[in-house]
Amino acid sequence: MKTYFDLLFARDPAGVEVVPGAHRWTVDTNWKIAAENFAADMYHVEHSHARPAELGLMQAVPDQGYQISAGMGFIGHAFTRPVSEDVGGEEPLHSYWTLPNIQTEFLAEQRKRIAEEKGAELARLIPLGHGALFPTFAWLDLEQFRLMRVHHPQGPDRTLIHQWCVLDKSLPEDVKDAVRKQYELTFGPAGLLEQDDGENWRECQNGMRGFIGRQLDSNMMLGLGSDRTAAEVVGDDDVPGIAGGIYSEINQRRFYELWKTYMQAASPESISKIPPTRI
Ligand SMILES: [Fe+2]
Repeated sequence: MKTYFDLLFARDPAGVEVVPGAHRWTVDTNWKIAAENFAADMYHVEHSHARPAELGLMQAVPDQGYQISAGMGFIGHAFTRPVSEDVGGEEPLHSYWTLPNIQTEFLAEQRKRIAEEKGAELARLIPLGHGALFPTFAWLDLEQFRLMRVHHPQGPDRTLIHQWCVLDKSLPEDVKDAVRKQYELTFGPAGLLEQDDGENWRECQNGMRGFIGRQLDSNMMLGLGSDRTAAEVVGDDDVPGIAGGIYSEINQRRFYELWKTYMQAASPESISKIPPTRI
């Protein structure tokens, strides 16, 4: 995951900082549902967040994107526009966002520098979208803001979330403030999109707790058998992991494979090696 973590947290030579203080709240759901959402779930976006779309914040998500499993980490999102098309200004990087953003010009400069250092294909992943590190660490990296969070299990049907807004240190102070406001508007505890997700997670938990739900298996076959190397999907030979398309469930399958490995181990010490990522 180092390749992706460097793009996420080390793309500013000055480093990152967090807005002081953490948001802290609980959701009545199993921690894995929240973790899965961050690790793997792009297909909920247009349905679960239909209201923000009606308000004009988003439009249809393109089907050109990726889900990547690498080691114990997961990323996924729509591709941004090619770096060669970054000409500054306020045009959104991800085509489904509709509002201009104060950080876009700064991100375009980062993408240009990363393209020169590591190649245009890798730079096209910035900002990285949704992601998670098994088991409980997760993040969102969008042109409007970046967040990181931990899903603390507090029982089979309760999850405590700690979340921070992450900023590049080099951002001007007024841009940092604008990014923080975007973060709170969308994915703070009372954010427009966070509330959509939390409600779904609670209802997933309620549905699985019922008589019918307890007798059904979860189907995670989407994209099964069509996995490719991440190098092939991204177009860079040095990119690690295996990949599916933007709506593949490859990351769900890998996430629960890891969970099963840990649940069946006699002890943590008995897991001498992480199960290999395979195609
Ligand atoms: Fe969501």
